[in-house]
Amino acid sequence: MKFFLDTANLEEIRKGVAMGMVDGVTTNPSLVAKESRPFTTILEDICALVGGPVSAEVVSTETEGMLDEARELAKIGEQIVVKIPMTVPGLTAVRRLSEENIKTNVTLVFSTAQALLAAKAGASFVSPFVGRLDDTGQIGMDLIGDIMNVYTNYDFASEVIVASVRNPLHVVEAALLGADIATIPFKVIGQLAKHPLTDIGLDKFLADWQKRTQ
Ligand code: E4P
Repeated sequence: MKFFLDTANLEEIRKGVAMGMVDGVTTNPSLVAKESRPFTTILEDICALVGGPVSAEVVSTETEGMLDEARELAKIGEQIVVKIPMTVPGLTAVRRLSEENIKTNVTLVFSTAQALLAAKAGASFVSPFVGRLDDTGQIGMDLIGDIMNVYTNYDFASEVIVASVRNPLHVVEAALLGADIATIPFKVIGQLAKHPLTDIGLDKFLADWQKRTQ
């Protein structure tokens, strides 16, 4: 399973890379807005740190505007994957970009039907948002299982990025379902690493070590 880091913060990416936990990065307009630096510079810096795909989202809502933005973003480097919202103009943009060999990540996916359409349009990646579905009282992870089934049934090439991850359980459940990728906030990587019995066990080992006589 691949781990992407869901952040536009370079410090978090540096730390994640040092731990060997970063196979790629996803950003979105909200994450980029927190950084107060030019979008292009942020993306260039991320690409220099990370070997894998780096998702950068368009903000146009019409196909032609999305295409213009996507072509500019793609010039930043081969790692750039253009994030396109799951709308009808978005699907048209995805189809055109796939013909131009520009990779896409269809974002804001909340149903199996949307994931099916995104795959048919030629999306390289599809991002169902589990946490935001959980917030509405629907079990987000059910959607991942359904999408995995549909993609397996028809051998779709689109990779599933489990997005809007809020806790360690999301990552573990995504792994059990065989999702290709989880895009994870930096904080959740730390939570995944932690177990109280590890801390208790380490304290005990160190205390016993201090008591040794030779
Ligand atoms: C996905 O690519 C998005 O950037 C992200 O996972 C959204 O997460 P949120 O619902 O916590 O904002």
